[in-house]
Amino acid sequence: MQAVFNSNRRSVVVLGMGGTIAGEGDDPSQTLTYQAGARSVARLMADLPLPCRAQIEATGCAVIGESVAQIDSKDIKWTHWWDLARRVVHWLDEPSVQGLVVTHGTDTLEETAWFLDQVLGHRTRFKPVVITCAMRPATAADADGPQNLADAVVVAASGAVRGVVACVAGEVFSAQAVQKVHPTRVNAFDGGPVSHIATVHSGVVQRENPGDALPLVSQSRWDRWLTPETPIPKQPWVECVWHTGAASSQLLPLLASAGVDGVVVAATGNGTVNEEWLMQLQSMSVAGVAVRCATRCSHGALVGDIEKGQTFSGLAFYPGLNAVKSRVQLCLDLI
Ligand code: SIN
Repeated sequence: MQAVFNSNRRSVVVLGMGGTIAGEGDDPSQTLTYQAGARSVARLMADLPLPCRAQIEATGCAVIGESVAQIDSKDIKWTHWWDLARRVVHWLDEPSVQGLVVTHGTDTLEETAWFLDQVLGHRTRFKPVVITCAMRPATAADADGPQNLADAVVVAASGAVRGVVACVAGEVFSAQAVQKVHPTRVNAFDGGPVSHIATVHSGVVQRENPGDALPLVSQSRWDRWLTPETPIPKQPWVECVWHTGAASSQLLPLLASAGVDGVVVAATGNGTVNEEWLMQLQSMSVAGVAVRCATRCSHGALVGDIEKGQTFSGLAFYPGLNAVKSRVQLCLDLI
């Protein structure tokens, strides 16, 4: 469903995926129990308070809304990612569109951001895709969604950032850096080892740091999967496993014998695992299971042999990616 808000030539498109930003609860004082994804994008836009509308109107852009899904992002599926990417591509190809906003649940926002970043590649070089969210449902007396939505539209219209970014609580993070770090507070995200790349306040975007380098190529290996006529590729079976103190030695052989395609180990510290796990991972790798390592630390990036893309114990890793984004990347690499 599409809804037009303003009517100008330049436009920003808001694609809705659900989440708390579209959540409804019975009690305006309650911010923890509600149904995520209950409201359409049209409703979110129609309910924007006057100051948020004024900030959007000042961009001079029309806003077009379309609900792609209305889900709690813990329920997101592989097919949702592809459906979203295809709608993003559809709108990016429209000459009048300056940029896109995606409203999304906070819980898996960083995975969707990395997925879009990878499959869209060069397409976002001149038109940003700005993902936003909220920690309080739309029915909360102090809902944070309306301002986040207005901020995201302002960022998408501004031309100040490129690529796939997340805009939350006045800060803009790259898709590679953004991570959810808190289960309840309003500023629930940070940029891990990297600071925000821009801020947005009262309709003003201020660029503060360089973002990620964007691909220059005009074609990517994903292009053929981004047309609606092509069936969505089958999802490889990739699991994320945590290496812990007193780690069980039973899980990895079970996964291997069940036919897993890949595992991402959220390893201790700078990508370490105990001897038993190392041997099991090595034999899984020899047997054809794709093994990647990430750190389970919430901040900082793995340091290893960057040229070989390996930790010092020889496990492959994706530089700069946390475990959940490494899993997205491995799924894509195994297609
Ligand atoms: C969700 O991720 O859809 C629910 C939680 C949230 O958006 O904060």
